[in-house]
Amino acid sequence: MRIIYGILVLGFLSGCMNSTSSGQKYDGGELIEAKCSKCHNLDMPPKSYDNEIAPSMMAVTFHLKDFIKSNDPSSHEAKIVDFVKDYVINPSRDKSFCDKASLDSYGVMPSQKGNVTEDELEAIAHYMYATYDNQKLLKIMAEKQRLASLSLHERVFEQQRCNNCHDIHKDKVAPSFEMIASRYTQKDKATLIKSIKDGTKGKYKGKVLPMPSFKDKMSDKDIDGMVDWILSLKQ
Ligand code: HEC
Ligand code: HEC
Repeated sequence: MRIIYGILVLGFLSGCMNSTSSGQKYDGGELIEAKCSKCHNLDMPPKSYDNEIAPSMMAVTFHLKDFIKSNDPSSHEAKIVDFVKDYVINPSRDKSFCDKASLDSYGVMPSQKGNVTEDELEAIAHYMYATYDNQKLLKIMAEKQRLASLSLHERVFEQQRCNNCHDIHKDKVAPSFEMIASRYTQKDKATLIKSIKDGTKGKYKGKVLPMPSFKDKMSDKDIDGMVDWILSLKQ
């Protein structure tokens, strides 16, 4: 019990919570979403750079980490936090690290005075520093590349765990994909798409478990691709 409690406390302290003297807790992740995502894209990396009205938060933070120098690595974060706290309330063309052309196209950021408190900004700035991190970005990119190198069914197996219930060849709690393929032809594609989207039950003798719905978990493209793959197993 004490060990579990210890882990909980550690997890709490190492999270992005920022506790202030008033004892209130600020969640930088929630605050940045509420206060800054209207203009700044928060994804790392952003899925698209089209129609940007402000640089992405990743670009902003990498920029600040690059431009704001510190001889002492431990004070680097503090300097960046101070810059963010000041800039968001008192932005100006002179202070911005944005290059001139970008400033001309975005315009200077409107002051967020009144929209965000100093304590909230402190939590947001620490969150930015921790989240938009080069090592983290490299890991995310490497994982994206790994997933992209998998075939569609391998990736979907990994992401959706179809193979917890299904095997390609063998009967498990769910019918094998080969067995499913043997019942259908290309013209039944819509039936199988519907089964994956909505789930099914009672179609296969001896199967007591229902097939769960994947409507909210998978893209239409992935569902379509899985059905093509299953049908390709037909001998
Ligand atoms: C109404 C739109 C808008 C909102 C809301 C907004 N920003 Fe900005 N922000 C911009 C634009 C546009 C720029 C680029 C121009 C500039 O540097 O002033 C910018 C630039 C910045 C920069 C300076 C980047 C640099 O290179 O100097 C920081 C830091 C920043 N924003 C932080 C924030 C934070 C933190 C929030 C949320 C509390 C926020 N912004 C909310 C529009 C916005
Ligand atoms: C929790 C277990 C479980 C998981 C996970 C699961 N299935 Fe199923 N699936 C079943 C069962 C059980 C059936 C048989 C349902 C029946 O008897 O009607 C089934 C049936 C099917 C069928 C045949 C539907 C039909 O109309 O004949 C397809 C296609 C299918 N699953 C695809 C998938 C795919 C693709 C995934 C992963 C995205 C997946 N399943 C994940 C349990 C599961």
